[in-house]
Order: sequence, then C-alpha cells, then structure tokens
Amino acid sequence: MNILVTGGAGFIGSNFVRFVLKRDQNVSVTNLDKLTYAGNLENLFDVEEKFSERYNFHHGDICDKLLVKRLLKENDIDCIVNFAAETHVDRSIIDSDAFIRTNVIGTKALLDAALDADLRLFIQISTDEVYGSLGQDGKFCEESGIDPNSPYSASKAAADHLSRAYFKTYKLPVIITRCSNNYGPYQFPEKLIPLLITNAIENKPLPIYGAGKNIRDWIYADDHSSAIEMILNSGIPGEVYNIGGDCELENLTVAEMVLDLLAKPRSLITFVKDRPGHDLRYAMDFTKLKTELGWSPAMRFETGLKQTIDWYLKNQDWVARVFTKEYLDYYEQNYGSR
Ligand code: NAD
Ligand code: TYD
Repeated sequence: MNILVTGGAGFIGSNFVRFVLKRDQNVSVTNLDKLTYAGNLENLFDVEEKFSERYNFHHGDICDKLLVKRLLKENDIDCIVNFAAETHVDRSIIDSDAFIRTNVIGTKALLDAALDADLRLFIQISTDEVYGSLGQDGKFCEESGIDPNSPYSASKAAADHLSRAYFKTYKLPVIITRCSNNYGPYQFPEKLIPLLITNAIENKPLPIYGAGKNIRDWIYADDHSSAIEMILNSGIPGEVYNIGGDCELENLTVAEMVLDLLAKPRSLITFVKDRPGHDLRYAMDFTKLKTELGWSPAMRFETGLKQTIDWYLKNQDWVARVFTKEYLDYYEQNYGSR
C-alpha cells in the first residue's frame, strides 16, 4: 500500500508514519508537509534513517493541487490520509485565516486532486470538536449533529462536509474519522498536556482556563494510529468513524496528575482567564469502530501520561528547539512572559 500522508511532520502525523512503517512491510509513505510552526522534520529523523526505502518527504502545501496530483502519480499512491491542518483552537480565536486556507481550501484541493487518481481510499482526519459541546451527560455518536463552536472546529466541519459531498457526488472513496484529544511524544507544547509538562519541569505556572472543570476525552497517539490503520485496511468508504480514548478527565485533574508524577507542588496551578466559547465537555461513543472493526484503545491514561512525561524529560533539546521566538511571542500574548 502506497500512502500519501499529509501533515506527517506534525504531532499525530509523525506518530502515525512511524507506526505504520513499523507495523507493515508492505506500506510505503510519501509525506507532504508545509512545515508550519507545528511541522518539525526532527520528529521523523529516526524514520528517515530506519525506513529510507519506504519513506520520502516533500516540502509543500496541500493547497497546491498540481503538486498533489504529481505526487499521487509519481508515487503510485492508493490511499491518502489527510492530517494536514491548523490545529490550535486558541490560535484560531486570534486569527482564523490560515485555518480556512489549509483546513477548508486545502482539503478541497486534495479532494480535487484525488478525483483524477485511482484511489482506494481517502481518509479525512477530523475531530470530535465538530460535534460542538456536551453537557454533563451523553456522548457524541456518528449521527450527532455537526455544531462547531470555535473557528478551528468550524473549519474542520467545513472540510468534513466537503469530504462527504465528494463521496456522494463523485463517488470518491472517502472515510471521515473523528477522534478525541490526543497526547503523547512529539506534541507541540501549545496544547494542554505538553504545556503542563514542559512548564512543570521548569517550575513555571500551569495555566488552567476558568475553573478547570472542562472535560476532554484523552487518547494516546499510538491508539489513534492503530484505529487509522484498521480503518485503512477494513473501513467502508462513505462512512464516518468516531475514535475515542474512553478516558474523560477534568483539566484540573490532568494538571494535578502531571504535577504528582513529576513530584512538583500543586501550588504551580494558576487559574487564568477562560477561553471564549470554551466547549465544556467532549465524550466519544465509538461503538461502531469497536463492533464493526474490532478496535479499542489499549493505553491506560496513567501509563501513557507517565511515558509522555518521560519522553519530554529525555527530549529537552527537542523542547528547547521548538521554543522559537514565534512560539515565545505567542506564549507571551496568551499567558504573559514565560
Ligand atoms: P499539528 O498541528 O501537530 O500538525 C499539523 C501538521 O500539518 C504540521 O506538520 C504542519 O506543518 C502541517 N500543515 C499545516 N498546514 C499545511 C498545509 N497547508 N500543507 C501541508 N501541511 C500543512 O496537528 P496534530 O495535532 O498532529 O493534528 C493532526 C490532525 O488531527 C489535524 O487534522 C487535526 O485536526 C486532527 N486532530 C487532532 C487532535 C489532537 O488532539 N491534536 C484530535 C483530533 C483530531
Ligand atoms: P487544547 O489542548 O488546546 O485542546 P482542545 O481545546 O482542542 O480540546 O486544550 C485542552 C483543554 O485544556 C481545553 O479545555 C482548554 C484547556 N486549556 C487550559 O486550561 N489551559 C491551557 O493553557 C490550554 C492550552 C488549554
């Protein structure tokens, strides 16, 4: 199987590329990535070394339809997995231009390019956030309404609608996957868990929005990858699959667990101004993936969090290098100086 992975230099994409190349000798990966602030070739140095015969990288933009067409042809691609996106809700609140460009126009360019290729499958990597927010009860299922609240989730929802429309109109074999919050190695420190870990390591305040009562469902990145691998092999075109971690936690609890694992004082927790339009709770019903394809998440949160903390402790050079001026300026704008 020859896969075009887009956004493979980011967090989930790089974990997925490593995961599939390790698991299946018959898989080759072409990685197309624009290398935005979130894209980092360092995430794949080991992959370049170990799998040089089955892996190649192209620096480019998913909005560039001609480039995508060329890559599909030259690499004899049979499946596309589209991870490329602008992904941070807080940045989308500051300015959503790049989100509309990559997540909507970029996905449309990929879908258009795919129309001319003889693809077996196009997987659009989406998010639970397109469903909006839950109250204290219930879970999102695949039939739940699309009700996005942030510019980020609205742009991902638009991409989902386009993907569905290309299946209905042109019979393009598209599958949409919607996953909950991922954590694990190589995650850019703007997101909650790596932000908590990197700040706690340096004894810096852990910023918690509002009262810390918002709930996210956490999944280890490798579990997300195993779900995508299963869907690549056995998913049905035209279907939507929810992917979840079965692990709902309040943000405050996550912060306390990080501090406890690092033996740091809970007094580092600092309550800061809430995010505008902050979704209260996400929870995923992934019965369909479980019963139809036999997938379940394998990693317990405590174990995965410990492994993730160990990774950040061992990779402080990586952390230092991703703390670029751009990131420190962003951090200061959001939280004050670091
Ligand atoms: P990330 O921000 O870590 O990485 C995104 C990658 O996409 C980067 O390598 C970046 O350079 C690349 N990219 C951005 N714009 C591009 C463009 N125009 N052309 C080519 N490449 C481009 O993101 P992530 O957290 O790994 O998320 C990957 C995907 O999974 C996204 O589609 C996201 O919506 C989805 N998702 C993420 C989570 C999560 O918890 N992080 C949960 C569910 C779904
Ligand atoms: P985040 O990692 O940005 O993911 P998402 O908003 O896409 O779910 O945030 C996860 C949760 O953590 C969310 O409820 C917002 C909260 N949060 C904080 O409390 N403090 C922070 O500094 C960040 C970045 C997030």
